Amino acid sequence: MKILITGAAGQISYSLVPFLCERGIFASKEKLDLSLVEIPPAMKKLDGFVKELEDSAYSSVNSINTYDNINDAVLDADWCLLVGSIPRGIVLNGKEIKERADLLQINGSIFTEQGKAIGSKAKNNCKVLVVGNPANTNALIGYKNAKNPNQLWMAMTMLDALRAKAQVAKKLGCHVDDIYRLAIFGNHSPTMFPDLENSNVSGKNTYEQIGDHEWVENNFLPKIQQRGAEIIDARGASSASSAARAACDTVKNVEHKTRSGDVFNAAVLSDGSYDIAEGVFSGFPLISDGEGNIKIVRDFNLSEFAQSKIRKTSNELLEERELVKDLL
Ligand code: NAD
Ligand code: LMR
Repeated sequence: MKILITGAAGQISYSLVPFLCERGIFASKEKLDLSLVEIPPAMKKLDGFVKELEDSAYSSVNSINTYDNINDAVLDADWCLLVGSIPRGIVLNGKEIKERADLLQINGSIFTEQGKAIGSKAKNNCKVLVVGNPANTNALIGYKNAKNPNQLWMAMTMLDALRAKAQVAKKLGCHVDDIYRLAIFGNHSPTMFPDLENSNVSGKNTYEQIGDHEWVENNFLPKIQQRGAEIIDARGASSASSAARAACDTVKNVEHKTRSGDVFNAAVLSDGSYDIAEGVFSGFPLISDGEGNIKIVRDFNLSEFAQSKIRKTSNELLEERELVKDLL
């Protein structure tokens, strides 16, 4: 199994690569060939990380190679985890990058080149997870440039789902594993919509058990939508350990059959389900058959409240698409 990771010397990858090397993440028992990609100035730091990976002596790993460009790294890749990009919270040319969307022009062009390389050189059944922000629209840019519809492109919304589960577990005093069918709709941005109305905790409806719409709308919703900013404010750097956990969880959920009655979360190319604009990458509830096929779960009932929130995030994805139309 060839696993390509960009931004491999960055803070997310420092946790992500070790998580991926643990047993049981990939369905195949084949050993991993790690293909780690960085930009030239970060190669020395990457070499240091590789020494640590070697010293970890993972039984799951066959080889570790480093590259300063994606073209040489991507040949026959089974998975591509596209983490490499600039995070928000930093100051560029004297201006602080405040919103993920501010990263569109800076990071967008990375994904044209990477999309072309993946489309033409990675395996036809390659799976791609975009983590670098703004993840949904970067995935769209990559997918359009790859021109290989057999490959599965996704953007990460798993972190939002894990954050939502953690807040629900706190509120209801249950365990996160007891929460089923919690879905993130739309963009990984302050407009995302985490739905509780179709979720259940040990069979009982989550929204009804909470029984407090005011808490859902004015506490829970903004908490999940703004959690990334809350972490940047506290840490002085964007989330890394939790983002790595979520990326690894996405891979595991795609690789293995979804547990009965549950869904997992990622943004995929919209086919118009739930009235989300066709042709953007949106968060949806998904299931995997454990054999490389995932599909959108279409039986969620959306209230007026949910529909109005979903319209907003769908519109934002359309606006972002318009801003990068020259890269598509
Ligand atoms: P970081 O700055 O620590 O690491 C990013 C790495 O990417 C750096 O080492 C940099 O040299 C490398 N890089 C830049 N351009 C590259 C290119 N063209 N090819 C290969 N490597 C390249 O940042 P981080 O904290 O690891 O975050 C990475 C990205 O993930 C950011 O865009 C961040 O906003 C995003 N993120 C997304 C989510 C999510 O839920 N989708 C969560 C957290 C962070
Ligand atoms: C997050 O949600 O933590 C990441 O997308 C980083 C950010 O910029 O918020």
